[in-house]
Amino acid sequence: MDFKRNIIITGGAGFIGSHVVRLFVNKYPEYRIINIDKLTYAGNLENLKDIEERSNYRFVKADICDYETMLRIMTDNQVDGIIHLAAESHVDRSIKDPFTFARTNVMGTLSLLQATKVYWESLPERYEGKLFYHISTDEVYGALEFDDTLFTEETKYDPHSPYSASKASSDHFVRAFHDTYGMPTVVTNCSNNYGPYQFPEKLIPLFINNIRNRRPLPVYGKGENVRDWLYVEDHARAIDIIFHTGKIADTYNIGGFNEWKNIDLIKVIIKTVDRLLGNPEGHSLELITYVTDRQGHDLRYAIDSRKLKNELGWEPSLQFEEGIEKTVRWYLDNEEWMNRITSGDYARYYEDMYAGR
Ligand code: NAD
Ligand code: DAU
Repeated sequence: MDFKRNIIITGGAGFIGSHVVRLFVNKYPEYRIINIDKLTYAGNLENLKDIEERSNYRFVKADICDYETMLRIMTDNQVDGIIHLAAESHVDRSIKDPFTFARTNVMGTLSLLQATKVYWESLPERYEGKLFYHISTDEVYGALEFDDTLFTEETKYDPHSPYSASKASSDHFVRAFHDTYGMPTVVTNCSNNYGPYQFPEKLIPLFINNIRNRRPLPVYGKGENVRDWLYVEDHARAIDIIFHTGKIADTYNIGGFNEWKNIDLIKVIIKTVDRLLGNPEGHSLELITYVTDRQGHDLRYAIDSRKLKNELGWEPSLQFEEGIEKTVRWYLDNEEWMNRITSGDYARYYEDMYAGR
């Protein structure tokens, strides 16, 4: 069957990627979606069970750092669009092992860019009707003080962690491929996502799972750091709009206008989990455990996404109260998904992580 478009989504077995794959496979039966994922500890094909048999979906297990394989997949499938999410994504892991972050996030993105360039430049129409869309993070902008104004698309890059430094570098490579070779690219920088299928090393699923299992809730430092939370399906919807109507070579910030101090967010999570489990109010507050702060812990991130609203009409659709309720319910209803992930290697990582704290 001929498809109208052939689109690679990298990192589609991860948290955000799985939501993007699902949205595209369901909404665009006329597109073939090729999910390229190495299936690292963070990749999980169970996240895509509901769409894996669809005729417009294909999974390829591969490493984005493998240039020859990337070029072959593009050529074999006549790919005309790339939505690039594959990355090492956890700040704490980047502090322990920065090399892996440079390899995947920098060299992997470069290998994908170069394969895309070689393939598209081999075609008679070259870059016409094509797009390389790179998904990045607000962390590249650095950290805000409490009274600073929000990050805009003009904010100077100032990454602090090995993770954000690697993402900043990959963003620069993407823009360099536009400026040097004329490759049609777009970059978006999004705030903290939450929702179903997030790997439980990240704050929200980790804490929901620990409350259920009566384990300590490790709050870094004083719990005063601020993050701007966006429901993952709203991010996927923004990606859809930007992929189809975004301006080539442009940058869009994506955020929830939804800032929470960690400790206040944690109390909302505790209240919601306790209520849904039928515990008395305040029952799990005693699990809060203040631990040594993350090294170089950025104080505050907050995104100004007015450009995306004004130019392309996107805004978050879900109120935070509704989003967090849906999220907590999902993790409580999907205990097996969680248990499969939190056994084995992850259990060992978690023990190492908190040993001696
Ligand atoms: P994730 O860690 O849940 O998933 C990453 C996926 O990439 C996994 O499926 C993994 O197997 C795959 N992957 C890793 N290395 C690979 C490689 N070398 N080759 C092929 N596949 C590989 O990450 P996420 O939270 O879904 O984030 C996805 C993207 O969005 C990342 O680029 C991240 O920087 C960005 N982002 C995340 C957030 C957030 O809050 N989670 C916010 C803004 C931007
Ligand atoms: O801002 C976007 C970024 O959000 C993404 O680019 C990253 O991929 C994603 O992991 C996320 O980074 P954070 O470091 O903000 O997310 P994390 O869930 O790790 O932590 C959220 C906040 O909670 C942060 O201030 C650290 C704190 N924290 C986290 C964990 C895991 C704790 O206090 N205790 C914890 O155990």
